[in-house]
Amino acid sequence: MTDSLVGDAAGLLLAQSIAVAAYIVAALLFILALAGLSKQESARRGVVYGITGMAIALVATFLLVLASGVALGNQGALYLGIGLMIVAIAIGAAIGLWRARVVEMTGMPELIALLHSFVGLAAVLVGWNGHLYAAGIAPELVGIHHAEVFIGVFIGAVTFTGSIVAFLKLSGRMSSKPLMLPGKNYLNVGALVLFVILTVLYVITPSIWLLVAVTALALALGWHLVASIGGGDMPVVVSMLNSYSGWAAAAAGFLLNNDLLIVTGALVGSSGAYLSYIMCKAMNRSFLSVIAGGFGIEAPRADAEEEGEAHETDPGSVADLLREASSVIITPGYGMAVAQAQYPVAELTEKLRARGVDVRFGIHPVAGRLPGHMNVLLAEAKVPYDIVLELDEINDDFAQTDVVLVIGANDTVNPAAAEDPGSPIAGMPVLHVWEAKEVVVFKRSMASGYAGVQNPLFFRDNTQMLFGDAKDRVVDIISDL
Ligand code: TAP
Repeated sequence: MTDSLVGDAAGLLLAQSIAVAAYIVAALLFILALAGLSKQESARRGVVYGITGMAIALVATFLLVLASGVALGNQGALYLGIGLMIVAIAIGAAIGLWRARVVEMTGMPELIALLHSFVGLAAVLVGWNGHLYAAGIAPELVGIHHAEVFIGVFIGAVTFTGSIVAFLKLSGRMSSKPLMLPGKNYLNVGALVLFVILTVLYVITPSIWLLVAVTALALALGWHLVASIGGGDMPVVVSMLNSYSGWAAAAAGFLLNNDLLIVTGALVGSSGAYLSYIMCKAMNRSFLSVIAGGFGIEAPRADAEEEGEAHETDPGSVADLLREASSVIITPGYGMAVAQAQYPVAELTEKLRARGVDVRFGIHPVAGRLPGHMNVLLAEAKVPYDIVLELDEINDDFAQTDVVLVIGANDTVNPAAAEDPGSPIAGMPVLHVWEAKEVVVFKRSMASGYAGVQNPLFFRDNTQMLFGDAKDRVVDIISDL
């Protein structure tokens, strides 16, 4: 009997050591995954690193549960623990595989927002669990434990409701207009001050009612923060919630004493924050304003009135223009994703390059509906990476370009951002397509883009509108060529 207890305890120690080593390997693989994902050429390798890291972490956790159950000598608890884990993994994997297979690329941001809400909810549940099972914590660590519970629940609950509002806004189930409660900035700051006071009180006396109060406060704050942000800033909000979900996971890691969760949470938290910062710069928004829930942004929304006459063209004339051209830049946008026009666009590119035309792509950092949206579509259609350029790399070249094909882009090529200080998108860097000799805009109507702002580009003398579905029109041009 004693021998078996000693054996079980030694087994648990061994399993714990293996788990620590496995978690370090998994954390390194996650870092390699992030590094790989930062470039198109290595993105596939990055995904493989990520999957391997997660598989190692899952197996190590499974072993740990097994060894803990054996060491406890409680077979019922052991079977229950393992059974619950298997069921959780099976349900999670089934839903994950199904959603990943059916989700449209354009529906990705709302799916990501929904997934962030799960991370937030998990952190709240872990925090509550930490409150209910605080017995056995060393007396000198009790204060820290309670602070961890409180902070974890707070970040988790803000992430949970914030992500749900982002999901509702992105999927069009809730208006994308910013909510303008009177004194909204004071409400946010007041909530933060109240949180600090409640934390101090909870560390002194860990009453469950204080935990109930902070949960309710954080749920309301998360809702308000994201509801206050207008549709145009949603890309930043999604990456900001990504960051919050990372910090929520890290907080849960401290509570569960799980190093891997702390490292992974910190990686997600900091990379999400950095991405939000890059996107704010790309859209000329103040980072602090956006993370503080639209602090100080009045978010004017211009009415999308037409201003002049647009010149319509047809696929035959565009094919003629392209026959004459020696340099062409294609600037894709959300409409290319909707039309799934990337394959014919790649074919057109190949045809023109075969004729000796210099064809390049200009990619705006927020073109489409998620970071890297256009790059993913073009990579899918096997457009060579070296002709796909960022805004900064290509913006000075438009003036020396014969033809620009604007395929389903609108806000990202709007000259008002550069020329009209009163425009709601004033100051947002845009692709200077209007400087080219000829511009052809592919879209179905004169409707405005995501920001709801009219685009003066459509009425310029050197702009021609090619109406219709982008994919059909590109196919028409290819057959003419
Ligand atoms: P948008 O300004 O969204 O405009 C897309 C245009 O595509 C529309 O004007 C639409 O005009 C046209 N279109 C739609 N379906 C089409 C089809 N089947 N064939 C041809 N044209 C079609 O596009 P953008 O320039 O890519 O700008 C992106 C906007 O989304 C920015 O305001 C950005 O802030 C915002 N946003 C970006 C992200 C990220 S991270 N990328 C996330 C959320 C929001 P018609 O209806 O007339 O066809």
